[in-house]
Amino acid sequence: MKAKACLFDLDGVLVDTARFHYLAWKDLAARLGFHFTEEDNERLKGVSRMDSLEILLDIGGLRLSQEDKVIFATQKNNLYLTYIETMTPEDTLPGAREFMVAVRLLGIKTALGSVSKNAAMILDKTRLRPLFDAIVDGNIISRAKPDPEVFLKGAELLRVPPPSCLVFEDAVAGVEAAHRAGMKCLGIGSAEVLKDADLVVPGFTGLTPGAIAF
Ligand code: BG6
Ligand code: MG
Repeated sequence: MKAKACLFDLDGVLVDTARFHYLAWKDLAARLGFHFTEEDNERLKGVSRMDSLEILLDIGGLRLSQEDKVIFATQKNNLYLTYIETMTPEDTLPGAREFMVAVRLLGIKTALGSVSKNAAMILDKTRLRPLFDAIVDGNIISRAKPDPEVFLKGAELLRVPPPSCLVFEDAVAGVEAAHRAGMKCLGIGSAEVLKDADLVVPGFTGLTPGAIAF
């Protein structure tokens, strides 16, 4: 690995919370009277809570007042919180913790690059926090992915130039954000979905820093 810093997305990369986000949005869609598929959900990954709601309403062909949007987004988040409240260190995705430890042993810096406002709770529940040199989450950035702000902020906090940073992402919007930040991106998940990533692996199991060319 040539990178001097690794920037990790959280939901769907280090923890399986992408599933919880999907279940909570699907529940809201059902209450609003339409079906929300896993394929639709790809469009919400990496996108902020309110932008996700806009996409969901668009899929359902619904228009709501700003007041109702805030109520529904809060309901979705409350259901999501009931899922993440039960998380433990065992809910870290297979191989992710080991990969982060291996990277840090090589002297490579690590940062979180998530737009979630719930990231702190997840890091504490899973005890992942000590594995980061810097944390960038939805509470300190103003623009969600695909805007590059989240990753540029991570590079700045780590004092590593963007071209020396490698991003780990499961979302199409996240891959775009990494490239707009001038960083390489390793996709975690399906090569079909993450076709713009520089390399795609199904997960961290068996992945070593030495096996990554950039
Ligand atoms: C991203 C998820 O990490 O965080 C999105 O991929 C989610 O699905 C976004 O909408 C915001 O998360 P939260 O926890 O602040 O609602
Ligand atoms: Mg993600």
